[in-house]
Amino acid sequence: MRILQIGILLTIVVGLLSLFQCEGNPKLQVSYSTDIDPIFSTKDCKLCHTANVNPHLDLTTYEGLMRGSDNGPVVIPYEADNSLLFLKVALETPPTGARMPFGRAPLSQTQIRLIEDWINQGAKNN
Ligand code: HEC
Repeated sequence: MRILQIGILLTIVVGLLSLFQCEGNPKLQVSYSTDIDPIFSTKDCKLCHTANVNPHLDLTTYEGLMRGSDNGPVVIPYEADNSLLFLKVALETPPTGARMPFGRAPLSQTQIRLIEDWINQGAKNN
């Protein structure tokens, strides 16, 4: 009986903790390698965006991302609102083409926020 009560209590505590985590305080410093690159991996961006595939935007490396595509840069450091990378994942109707990831569920608000913050912090290779 005792064990059951402790079990229930633990479940509630863990549930509450994960709720707080979802709220998510904005991070002080967003990191390319631990925050941004994993989004490109888990949200299939890297499946479509390699150096060889139109429009030749390579999301598999930091250098590729900063090089941009055939249409020019997609990241303008300190200016998320002018960066196609942010606009393409944040807006239902981006300035060009479709919302990314193409044909898949949009990023979470937290992921969109991370990309926005990372660009506004200078889009560093950190
Ligand atoms: C199923 C394939 C596919 C997936 C997955 C995908 N993309 Fe794309 N992406 C495309 C295609 C095709 C285009 C060109 C047409 C367009 O802009 O809608 C494009 C265009 C873009 C552009 C604009 C490039 C330019 O300069 O015009 C950006 C930025 C971009 N994608 C980012 C992403 C990100 C970030 C993800 C993951 C969250 C992602 N894409 C996932 C196929 C994909």
